[in-house]
Amino acid sequence: MSRLCHTLFCAVLLASPAAAQNLDSLLGRMTLAEKLGQLNLLSANGQASPQQLQLVRAGKLGGLFNVIGAENTTPVQRVAVTESRLKIPLLFGLDVIHGYRTIFPIPLGEASSFDPDAAEATARAAGQEAAAFGINWTYAPMVDIARDPRWGRIAEGSGEDPYLGSLLAAARVRGFQQTIFATAKHFAGYGAAEAGREYNETEISQRTMREIYLPPFKAAVDAGVASLMSAFNDIAGVPASGNAWLTDTVLRREWGFTGFVVSDWTSVAELINHGVAGSRAEAGRRGLMAGVDMDMQSSIYVDSLAALVRSNRIPLRVVDSAVMRILRAKKRLGLFRDPYRAHTAPPNAELRALARRVAGESIVLLKNERSPLPLDPNAGTIAVIGPLADNKEEPLGPWHTQGQASDVVTVLQGVKSKVVAGTQVVYAQGSGIEDSATAGFAEAVAAARQAKVAILVLGERGDMSGEAASRSSLGLPGVQEQLLEAVAATGTPVVLVLMNGRPLILEWAWDHVPAIVETWFLGVEAGNATADVLFGAVNPSGRLPVTFPRVLGQIPLYYNHRNTGRPPDPNNKYTSKYIDVPVTPRYPFGFGLSYTTFSYSNLKLSAARARVADTVTATVTVTNAGNREGTDVVQLYVRDEVASLSRPVRELKAFRRVALRPAESRTVELRIAVRDLWFYGLDMKRVVEPGTFRVFVGPSSAEGLEASFECIP
Ligand code: GLC
Repeated sequence: MSRLCHTLFCAVLLASPAAAQNLDSLLGRMTLAEKLGQLNLLSANGQASPQQLQLVRAGKLGGLFNVIGAENTTPVQRVAVTESRLKIPLLFGLDVIHGYRTIFPIPLGEASSFDPDAAEATARAAGQEAAAFGINWTYAPMVDIARDPRWGRIAEGSGEDPYLGSLLAAARVRGFQQTIFATAKHFAGYGAAEAGREYNETEISQRTMREIYLPPFKAAVDAGVASLMSAFNDIAGVPASGNAWLTDTVLRREWGFTGFVVSDWTSVAELINHGVAGSRAEAGRRGLMAGVDMDMQSSIYVDSLAALVRSNRIPLRVVDSAVMRILRAKKRLGLFRDPYRAHTAPPNAELRALARRVAGESIVLLKNERSPLPLDPNAGTIAVIGPLADNKEEPLGPWHTQGQASDVVTVLQGVKSKVVAGTQVVYAQGSGIEDSATAGFAEAVAAARQAKVAILVLGERGDMSGEAASRSSLGLPGVQEQLLEAVAATGTPVVLVLMNGRPLILEWAWDHVPAIVETWFLGVEAGNATADVLFGAVNPSGRLPVTFPRVLGQIPLYYNHRNTGRPPDPNNKYTSKYIDVPVTPRYPFGFGLSYTTFSYSNLKLSAARARVADTVTATVTVTNAGNREGTDVVQLYVRDEVASLSRPVRELKAFRRVALRPAESRTVELRIAVRDLWFYGLDMKRVVEPGTFRVFVGPSSAEGLEASFECIP
């Protein structure tokens, strides 16, 4: 090593002696105040405040979040590693949910692709971009299972199914952690908020918690996620951020998780509101003792726990364990060796191309009667109408980090880029998203009258889903429904493009509009991806990751329900149903149409009998019976027909995206590892019981070919 390099190397070591020694000796040199400082995490407002810099110098901060840009993180990190006594580097966190500056589809939209590779790719790209701007830790993926579309944060997750949710959780962790730390959140059961009301209490049985809500977190842990974030909600009266069963028994003793747990915002302080702590110090003691290592934003650990440690109400070993988890994480991230972690982001064109591809895969074709879609780019005149048709802000969704509206391609722009010369595109906003003004209807109706087809782009504002955005009704906000009806009344064929963060309930539209595409919030390439699908450059392949109810009164409604003792029977009054609506959803989990048609035949299982250690292979022939290439999502569900407990009528256990040319048939293999057909038995231990397993293979949770096999002891 040359003298200069050696000098530099020593300088780095001297600048951060922590790198020269192991963490145990570092811990041994820390004062109690410095130890509690490592457990303290605060939000900045773009830049660290002078007070926060002072805390860094005093060793009273383990990390900051919402410091934006390397120009702002670097000087703070320099204070930490040169001016503090022990020179321990900081974590810099940020909510990079579905993109940093290049915004991809919201997670619920991306889940519609049923494409874990796509999810991994967008997470990797988001992590790379964030790392180039000084971030080394994201508070994503959000892996909460959600069965209630009134809950706004359904937009941030992967929908209602634990199997799909687990695959996407692991994929996103792998993607992010190519460059930065990921955080699986919100641990756990947050999506079960009663009545879909944000932050509300939950009543989740241990069995449902372990079979539905925990699996995506376990998948994230198995994928090596660096941290988990504890949730705001309680579970049957025990708050998640003071819940030793969750953050110690399950997470550490059962799963062997060695990373760290950070609280969500002030959820440690909120233990007082929950009524399980009578003071800030007591709330902090409850949180730390339960296994919440880092206190986000409450400043309780750093301000109030020293006295409890000195009086041994908190054993010092509990503090040391939490501090070591943070130090090990920083070492794992390489911060002691390279605290500034300079990165370069991938080229913007590459990121946008990825955004366009994944957005296209995320679009779900819900209806296409008499095939108004795909549109003819040489159609004379096309009307593009609606408050979201030329809107650059809302396609970014409810939480878009550094995403800029100026980066967004609108649907109107996308349509204009697709039509051929001579085709006129007329635009009318028609109405606002949520206001009651109808003055714009006349212009919209006039535009529709002169057009061969009217594309209506309707839906929610981005902030009508996401955090603190529960809705008690799920129709189109404002007067959009009336606008839709007014345009439809012209007789011009209507194509409805939905932009929304949750399942909507559109009773009139479902019955009266011939073509409907669900686009969620697709990010910067929303307009191009939507136009790709509308004009057929992309054949839609999205499938619903969440059930669309017919009416509000059906909620919660999800596909993997149990059969009850009186399953619905239209010919028997005394069975489980309503007297005023069918029990079935409007659009079931896994549903989505294509511009071609797929048929299934010849379902076979590799064995009629199998043991727990065996794998049963299902083969099915899928045929593209149409005249256009397309991709289907072949889905395999099982039902444990008779068990010691009532089991769901369907459980997704495998799926595969299959691209087929016109008239092409392919034999598709889907594997069932019998050991994966577990549930938690009467003794709350995982079990796969002998008996008949029915197997369904098809295009959604509501249809398919059936076979069965016997699981034998
Ligand atoms: C918020 C959210 C959480 C987020 C955190 C930091 O309250 O619940 O998802 O990561 O605070 O912004």
